[in-house]
This record gives sequence, structure tokens and C-alpha cells, in this order.
Amino acid sequence: MSLRAGLLLARAGEAAHPDAVAAFTRLAAAHGTPLYVYDAETIREQARALLAAFTPRFPRLRVRYALKANTNVEIVRLILSEGLAPEVVSEGEIRAALRAGAKGSDVLFSSSSKSPSEIDFALAHDVLLNVDNLDELGQVSAAAVRLGTTARISFRINPGVDPDTLHQINTGIPESKFGVHLDGGIARKGYETAKALPGLAIEGIHCHIGSQIIDPAGYEKTARKMLAFVRELKEELGLRLSFVDLGGGLGIPFEDGVPVMTPAVLAEALKPIWDEEIALLGYEPELWIEPGRFVVAQAGFLVARVNSVKTTPVKTFVNVDAGFNTLMRPAMYGAEHRVRVVGKDGPGTTLDVAGDVCETGDILAEGRLLPRPAAGDLVVFLDAGAYGFAMASEYNARPLPEEVLVDGDTARVIRRRGTFEELHRSEPETPAG
Ligand SMILES: Cc1ncc(COP(=O)(O)O)c(C=O)c1O
Repeated sequence: MSLRAGLLLARAGEAAHPDAVAAFTRLAAAHGTPLYVYDAETIREQARALLAAFTPRFPRLRVRYALKANTNVEIVRLILSEGLAPEVVSEGEIRAALRAGAKGSDVLFSSSSKSPSEIDFALAHDVLLNVDNLDELGQVSAAAVRLGTTARISFRINPGVDPDTLHQINTGIPESKFGVHLDGGIARKGYETAKALPGLAIEGIHCHIGSQIIDPAGYEKTARKMLAFVRELKEELGLRLSFVDLGGGLGIPFEDGVPVMTPAVLAEALKPIWDEEIALLGYEPELWIEPGRFVVAQAGFLVARVNSVKTTPVKTFVNVDAGFNTLMRPAMYGAEHRVRVVGKDGPGTTLDVAGDVCETGDILAEGRLLPRPAAGDLVVFLDAGAYGFAMASEYNARPLPEEVLVDGDTARVIRRRGTFEELHRSEPETPAG
């Protein structure tokens, strides 16, 4: 049995199966813990599922990958090789996309707060700038003129749609910080201003309404609003856009046996709206989407080792060698990652899996019915491939974890474990006197 087969067994709830035990024992022995493990084939399958769902329905299509979900260059390279293009939010992510082999002109840069040097860097690489606000628009125009170039731009629109997801990852509601609002004519003013300013080439329109969305209704409402606005831009400003980006946000199933919206369900829901609106529009822009989580989350496993188990008068805590410095999502969003105890099954006990960070809030999994582990056992957090390592920190002076990419039966280090020396890498050699 391959390493991959062991990973998939754990995913399927069979972490006590000898092949799952062999796989995780081998990985932990070779690479230590805490350890991020990614399954290459799952990433390929997810990328292909997106393309298979959308390509037949939208022949003029571009699927992007939002690098923020997982910025490891080897992961990005793998995703690009499946035909996805990069969507980024910082100069560091532009650099990661370039390192992974992307052309600058294929990169879309969408942050709500871009520094002057990030704007210059994007322009120097012919990156498409997704403008967040009118102040930024003026800066982009001035920078393009100063550099003697043309800035390719789109606007991030705030469509005022609630996709019914967690508040912290709800980005298209009116009170969110992102984008130019359709309401109040702000978006319209943006395009009008962009037409008049020097150094700009208007290419498209963008929105992203949130993350972990499991119902197509929010996308449907958004698509209608966006396409009606694209028509307004044509009829009133004479603008013809080459793309309409409906963002990322496709959710994944975080619970056993609870399926969520698939790409095919989403594509099927969008198709009649798109066709109807395109007929009214009189031309067909490309449809772009830019999921992050959907591509990488399920490929990732965070492997941690149990340091100790203790029962207090209130609870039983399983103390592991990972914390919110390794996996931030439970502490930050109340996210619930499924936990598997390697090599154990049978009747569960209600347990809290507690992190090793010195903070009360560092609970990685709360009140879970799990087989009771012992010190030295391995526990695995599922769906850790997105916003896992990408949000990790060295808080509490713990070096960053290692990342390995499993392909069949091989495991390749794609980021070696951090070192204690690296914790101080940017500090002066000798303390200032
Ligand atoms: C502009 C933009 N696009 C795409 C994404 C990817 O979202 P997800 O990982 O939920 O697909 C995000 C995530 O926050 C984003 O801000």
C-alpha cells in the first residue's frame, strides 16, 4: 500500500487501519512533527474537477488559483501545471507565482491595500491590477505614467451580496472593507474615472463575495448584479470588458457524510443566468473564477504528536505539539477540522485537543468524541491544506513546521522544518549596546 492510500484511509475515518498507521508513522519518523503533508493527486483531482465542471458550460473560461490559500511554490507549480492561473494579494505572492513559473501578465493582483512599491512591482511585471478604490486608481495611473507603461486594470466590486457564510470571511456585504460598491454609483464612477485617466487599460471586472460558500444562491445573485452592471458600462460608457471574475469561495465538506455544493452544481446554477445576460449584453467576456480552498484544503493533513493527556475536574485535554501558530483557523474562525487518532478506534471519549501555545484560546478541537490517545500517539487534522501553513507563525519561538508533498508512495520535502537559528535570522548578530 502506498503512502497516499494511508492518507486516504485516515480521511475516510480508518486511521486505525494498518496502512494508515504505517503511512503516518513513516512520515512522522522521517520528517518529525508537527508536519504538513499534502497529497499531490488530490490537488490534481480538485483542479480537474473545476475544469471539468466549468469548461463545457463556459468555453470562454479562465480558472485561477488564489495563492493565499497555500503559497508553497511547489504546490503552486503543481496547480499551474494543471492549467490554472495565479490570483495574488501581495508582492510576495506575485514573486511566488513568478518562482512557480507563471508569466507576470497571467497574474491577477487583488489586494484592498496595495503599497506604492507593490504597485510599481506589479507594473514592472505587467501584472493585472485589480483596483480596490478610487484613491488607489489615481495612484496606479500616476505610477504607470511615471514608469512609462500602461497599467492593465479591473475593479474589485462590492456587489452587496451576503452568501451566508461566516462573518469573518464574508467579503461582499456592504459593510466589508473590500472593493468599490455598486451601491451609490461608486463602481460606475470608478470606471468613468479610469476611462479619463492616463496610463490605464480597462480589462475587466471582479468580485469575491466570501469563502467556504456551500450554496449557489449568493453566486447567482452576484452574477446577475455583475452582468447587469457590465451591460450598464457598455450602454452608458461604451466599455467592452474582456473578463468577468466571480471570485473564489467554493466550500469544501468539513464534516463526515455532509456533502456540499460541487463545482458542477455551481456551474449549472450560473449557466442560465450567464446565457441570459450575455444575450442582453451582446458580447461574451471570459468567465473567470479563482478558488483557493477548494483546490488545496482537502489535500492537506496536519500531523501532530501527543505530548500528554490530562483530565481536569471539567475536561480531558490532549496536549499536542502543534498550536494556533501551526493551524490558526480554529482559534481565528472557530473552524472545526476533523481529527483522527492514528492507530486507535473504538468508543470515543469527549476530548479537547489543546495546542502548545501559551494562550487559553489555543484549542485546536473542542469537545470531540475521539478514541483516547496516549502520549506519543499521532493525531491528524484533516482539510489542513488551505489557510494552514500559509497562516502559520513562529509565535512562542517555535520554528515553522515542515511541509511534504506525497505523490503515490513518495514523500518530497517542499519546505524543510524551520530552525531555532531562523527564529533570530533578522536580528542583529550582537545585541545593540
Ligand atoms: C480576492 C479573493 N479571491 C479568492 C479568494 C479565495 O477564496 P477561497 O479560498 O475561499 O476560494 C480569496 C480569499 O479570501 C480572495 O480574497
